[in-house]
Amino acid sequence: MGEDVAVTTLHDPESRGFASDNYAGAHPEVLAAIAAANGGHQVAYGEDVYTARLQEVMAGHFGDKARAFPVFNGTGANVLSLQSMLPRWGAVICVETAHINMDENGAPERIGGLKLLTVPAPDGKLTHELIDRQAWGFGDEHRAQPGVVSITQTTELGTAYTPGEIAALTTHAHDLGLTVHLDGARIANAAASLDLPLRAFTTDVGVDVVSFGGTKNGLLYGEAVVVLDPAASAGLPYLRKMDMQLTSKMRFVSAQLLALLDGDLWLRSAQHANAMATRLRAAVEGTEGLVITQPTQSNAVFAILPAGVADRLRTRFRFYDWNEATGEVRWMCAFDTTEADVDAFAAAIRHELIP
Ligand SMILES: Cc1ncc(COP(=O)(O)O)c(C=O)c1O
Repeated sequence: MGEDVAVTTLHDPESRGFASDNYAGAHPEVLAAIAAANGGHQVAYGEDVYTARLQEVMAGHFGDKARAFPVFNGTGANVLSLQSMLPRWGAVICVETAHINMDENGAPERIGGLKLLTVPAPDGKLTHELIDRQAWGFGDEHRAQPGVVSITQTTELGTAYTPGEIAALTTHAHDLGLTVHLDGARIANAAASLDLPLRAFTTDVGVDVVSFGGTKNGLLYGEAVVVLDPAASAGLPYLRKMDMQLTSKMRFVSAQLLALLDGDLWLRSAQHANAMATRLRAAVEGTEGLVITQPTQSNAVFAILPAGVADRLRTRFRFYDWNEATGEVRWMCAFDTTEADVDAFAAAIRHELIP
């Protein structure tokens, strides 16, 4: 040890786009936490001091009953959560745009063995009425049995449920005998948007299990299944291994989650990402030809552009189509998006639209 190590940077570390919060690298404080957790030997598979401390910190955020299970990624957190909440014949009610339905390549069905019962929701939010469209057929052996309602906070469309909206959903779900899962890939953005502690829109309003997101908020990789009501989830340790989400060197995932959650990095980073989306929206809203399609309540802006504009912009800034048929695009900001990035992008958008 101690000799010079050759490292090579193959990309431009100053180049950022608006495609995804996952395009960002890791926050320097997270990398420092990994380095600080390095060296020496620690018991593998989660019996290390970082994972023990994580339990205390998660309990501070989500309440004393909360139990955290670190995992590699968000799809894994979702599949594992849902599997632990349902029997083999169980089904999940969610919106059509839910990540579990649109972007997990059938993992909940194929790996989790679960059926998804979807409903359309233009703003990405489930409601009491939408749940009822699928909450039927209880006791009918011909129908997969609805057992879980899964919501995403913030939603795939960048909107945030209020605690009251979530309370209404959980009360209705529990009355029907269903439990509630919250896909929190962007849970920190929701807390920042609502200006509320994490438990105010989870534990305190009846959510049972959370997929806690870290990667989009500056981790190298790492999320956690956080069980808020132990009665709603069974077999998680076994399922995590079966689902290939049990990391042997768990101290490094836990150390990253601690870097976020043991101080205010989680909130600082999410507040910044949200503020950059607000800035972007303000800079382009009202430009002729551009239609903003969703409220900007987190780190995403959704807009419809005239034909051809998106492709011309993409020669300089990367971002994704959301709906090719309507010309709707999605612009995402991250913890490292700068005001200068936003201003340059907004100027390019206006330049394309204003003759
Ligand atoms: C709403 C939502 N849930 C979960 C995930 C987790 O995905 P991954 O498996 O890529 O970590 C994502 C990532 O895009 C997401 O947007």
